[in-house]
Amino acid sequence: MKVAVLGAAGGIGQPLSLLLKNKLPAGSDLALYDVAPFTPGVAVDLSHIPSDVNVKGYTGDEGLAEAVKGASVVVIPAGVARKPGMDRSDLFKINAGIVKSLVEAVAKNAPEACIAIITNPVNTMVPLAAEVLKKAGIKDYARKLFGVTMLDTLRSETFWADVTGYSRGSVRIPVIGGHSGTTILPIFSQALGYDSVSAEEIEKLTKRVQNAGTEVVEAKAGAGSATLSMAAAGARFALAIVAGLQGVPGVVESAYVADEQGEYAPFFARQVLLGQNGVAGLKPVGKLSDYEKKCLDDMLPGLKKDIQLGVDFVNGNA
Ligand SMILES: NC(=O)c1ccc[n+]([C@@H]2O[C@H](COP(=O)([O-])OP(=O)(O)OC[C@H]3O[C@@H](n4cnc5c(N)ncnc54)[C@H](O)[C@@H]3O)[C@@H](O)[C@H]2O)c1
Repeated sequence: MKVAVLGAAGGIGQPLSLLLKNKLPAGSDLALYDVAPFTPGVAVDLSHIPSDVNVKGYTGDEGLAEAVKGASVVVIPAGVARKPGMDRSDLFKINAGIVKSLVEAVAKNAPEACIAIITNPVNTMVPLAAEVLKKAGIKDYARKLFGVTMLDTLRSETFWADVTGYSRGSVRIPVIGGHSGTTILPIFSQALGYDSVSAEEIEKLTKRVQNAGTEVVEAKAGAGSATLSMAAAGARFALAIVAGLQGVPGVVESAYVADEQGEYAPFFARQVLLGQNGVAGLKPVGKLSDYEKKCLDDMLPGLKKDIQLGVDFVNGNA
């Protein structure tokens, strides 16, 4: 199993690579790529950890092709992070160019790879990547392409555990929709302990999850956005893809995936069954509370606009 991290020298990329070095199955290869020239040094640093994962660092155009060649999973945190006062859409123009060129390189050098995109705005980057893969002739892109929304899951699980008193590791919360503001919708009505939490508290928690990125951006006061919790989220998701590829049954995590004939939007976050070819099935959204139904209806026009922006960027209309 080869896993490549593109943007591996960044605030997310480095701790994500550390977690993967320690947690990937023995014998795996871990390839680190970044435009930062010190990236091979990050790999040398990690290589001194005595885990049975082979790590190598790459930079430059040729390095990119080498890093992704033969990869089963490519995780992309490359890009520019949010600064105070910026919302995720402000990042779009810079990050769109970066993600487009990286996904083109994956399509050329690792056409079978599962691609997990962390770079924001995820709502737009994933449809953009899908257009790139379609143009490159990769027909089963819908099974291979993921927007990483796992940080919304981590936050929902943590905040829910704190309110209900359940132990933090035991809580599972599906998160649906997308990955910015009101498009993030934790489904607390399906969680253990729902009946013990008031409607006001649920609304407060939902808004806290939706704004939790800003909580970190403001607390870091200009020094970046979530990196360590995002690395933990990215590692949990990458390892889930790896487990699915290796044939572990019943691996389910929330992610933002293509659902072009779906009931809600052409790309939509929900619980996904991960299998030996990537997406093995999309879990039904299930029963929602009236509050959740309203949040879902309200988010869809904005989510569809975010999706169209990604499609238009690749087709020269944005
Ligand atoms: N999905 C999520 O939940 C989530 C959460 C937090 C942050 N993010 C996003 O993740 C991205 C990275 O955040 P960060 O804090 O690590 O930023 P960062 O600036 O610390 O790191 C980004 C890295 O990308 C590299 N890079 C830039 N262009 C590149 C290219 N063409 N090829 C390879 N590498 C390239 C940079 O050199 C840098 O090392 C941002 O877009 C941020 O908004 C997503």
